[in-house]
Amino acid sequence: MTAEQPGRTKEAPGNSCFNEFELYDVYFGMGHCITLIDDPKAFKVSPAGVAFGSLLTRYVTEELLTARILDLGTGSGSGIHSLLLKSIGVGNVVASDISEDAVAIARKNELLNYGNSTIEFCHGDLFEGLKASAYRYDVILFNPPGWRTPSNGFLEALGKLAGSKVCPVGSMFYGDEILARFFKELPFRLVDGGKVIIGLNSLVGIKQSINRLRHVHANDFIIQCRLLERHEFPLFFYYEEWTAAKHLFISEILSWTRQGLAYCSVEKNGQINWSYEIVELTLRKK
Ligand SMILES: C[S@@+](CC[C@H](N)C(=O)[O-])C[C@H]1O[C@@H](n2cnc3c(N)ncnc32)[C@H](O)[C@@H]1O
Repeated sequence: MTAEQPGRTKEAPGNSCFNEFELYDVYFGMGHCITLIDDPKAFKVSPAGVAFGSLLTRYVTEELLTARILDLGTGSGSGIHSLLLKSIGVGNVVASDISEDAVAIARKNELLNYGNSTIEFCHGDLFEGLKASAYRYDVILFNPPGWRTPSNGFLEALGKLAGSKVCPVGSMFYGDEILARFFKELPFRLVDGGKVIIGLNSLVGIKQSINRLRHVHANDFIIQCRLLERHEFPLFFYYEEWTAAKHLFISEILSWTRQGLAYCSVEKNGQINWSYEIVELTLRKK
């Protein structure tokens, strides 16, 4: 979980770029604590992001310290897992995000935590912004947007509500489309036998996404898929306007679940929980 102020291990350098906003610490275990700038242009690290990072502290063993690791979608907690990899001792980290703001804040977060810049930060849609475009990675990390493509009925209803324009649906939805594009290109970005650690939200349609990956590359690759960890988290809304339109979101999510396109559980008090599943994929050429 994120800690607001207690447990701070670092003081912000006397530089105005760090003093403009509050700082907060995120602790992952094994002494790995990262301090982040609470810039309103970036989301705070989510409980799922913390769970993913805690898994990394166990997953990244001695032999991975020299691996080339790509952290895709490194925002919006702003570089959090790249910064953690650096804390663990991984020397070769590339991080990219579609949000220019998230990448700019991630760069500042690296300076704040380490006082130097060794992570290669890029900006672009999936693999597009990477400088060495032909490079293959040993490990790729991805925690994609968690909710699947919304129905037209939902979009129309949301569009009629005041303020909905200020919170674009692209920040949470369309995870299934992003995954489909990511999976299509994945084998050409990984070394043979390379691994992907991916954080999947059950509201994205996990089974369908993995089936699509297997289907698209069935002729050329053997794809092994292993569930490393599973957590249940309550549904939360990042924007006030979305909280006001809660009923629309809940009815959309329940409709996906009824159709078998996603999964959520509903508690007696109406609380909706989703399943966060950290999965390891290994791709080998046939
Ligand atoms: C769920 S957040 C994960 C943030 C962080 N890695 C974590 O785990 O806490 C998803 C991130 O993916 C980024 N993203 C969404 N679509 C993307 C795309 N097409 N290419 C690259 N990044 C994308 C978002 O900007 C956001 O920072």
